[in-house]
Amino acid sequence: MGIYLDNGATSYPKPSQVAKAVFDFMVDIGVSSGRGGYKKAMVADKIVYDTRKLISKLFNQNDPKKVIFTLNVTEAINMALYGILEENDHVITSSLEHNVVWRCLKTMERDKGITISNASCDKDGTTKAEDVEALINKNTKLIIFTHASNVLGSIQPIAQIGEIAKRHNVLFLVDTAQTAGAFDIDMQRDNIDIIAFTGHKSLMGPMGTGGLAIRESVDFNPIKQGGTGGDSAYPYQVDYYPNKLEVGTLNISGIAGLKSALEYIDNEGIKTIHNKEKELRAYAYELLKKIEKVKLYGPDESKDSAMVISFNIEGMRCEDIAYKLDKNYDIMIRAGLHCAPLAHELIGTIKTGTARIGIGYFNTKEDIDKLYEALVEISNEA
Ligand SMILES: Cc1ncc(COP(=O)(O)O)c(C=O)c1O
Repeated sequence: MGIYLDNGATSYPKPSQVAKAVFDFMVDIGVSSGRGGYKKAMVADKIVYDTRKLISKLFNQNDPKKVIFTLNVTEAINMALYGILEENDHVITSSLEHNVVWRCLKTMERDKGITISNASCDKDGTTKAEDVEALINKNTKLIIFTHASNVLGSIQPIAQIGEIAKRHNVLFLVDTAQTAGAFDIDMQRDNIDIIAFTGHKSLMGPMGTGGLAIRESVDFNPIKQGGTGGDSAYPYQVDYYPNKLEVGTLNISGIAGLKSALEYIDNEGIKTIHNKEKELRAYAYELLKKIEKVKLYGPDESKDSAMVISFNIEGMRCEDIAYKLDKNYDIMIRAGLHCAPLAHELIGTIKTGTARIGIGYFNTKEDIDKLYEALVEISNEA
């Protein structure tokens, strides 16, 4: 079986009911939604609508029609950024963003003439909200922040940034890839205008699911045009939600799995999930700290953070750490830049990358003990 500690990339295993829901949908239902009027099509419609409602409830968003399904958070963020930003707009972002945000913004800077400001942060990867406020100018249209760094785990002060964005009448978009399902995220309380989520990480759903949860009052243009199942004689994209942004046949088998995952999370409780993962991360951080040659990055065990820990071993390439863990101990972790070069610039590992463990809800202390024992042996070889 091996020990899977790459939950920052995708969660594994999934709750067994998730795979069952995908299988059951494909075998028992298997038809498209928003297209046919027959009974099975209504069942498919209901699965999709119920999943919108569950996402809406999870994030305390107030209009399920404005929950848009995409393939992943990458597609969702592309959709929002290209839908919102125009020439001369100014955007504020963190110094930790994943390449989905960073490459979209850099491309729009080059091709569309937008301007970008990065809010600075400390070595542990924490931003001060007042540093974000200081960057706002008359052209600022959007603040986009990752909720947690996927390299360091550091949590960003989204509630304070949301309050600032609201006060300055600037849109606020949060990338919740590393936190949705394991952290309490509330659009109303935290003044978030758009939440981008991915279904397959801590939401424990299938790959190929993700989306946007958009505040009722927020509206932007679609970047895709296509079939929506209704108003087909109209030559342009319809302007009502979700069809305005959602085109083509949905991944309903995936959405059925996501629905089941959301029900599982609702049942377990975000607090329970969060506390278990937090305890395991703290346990892992404390153990890794004991290994002399290990250098750890990001917030220590006393701080609340997403469930990743980046580290290096003196005298060894991070790729070799991951290779040895897999080959000799059957422990799966990730090594490299984790698609987030900005975070590596910050901690000085842009040339080397880091080894990264990602703890999930189904990991145990025994998994962490085995990782520790393996790393003690590996570091002795370095
Ligand atoms: C912070 C962050 N944003 C975006 C992504 C992209 O996620 P996906 O590949 O599901 O689109 C990831 C995944 O690594 C991430 O950690």
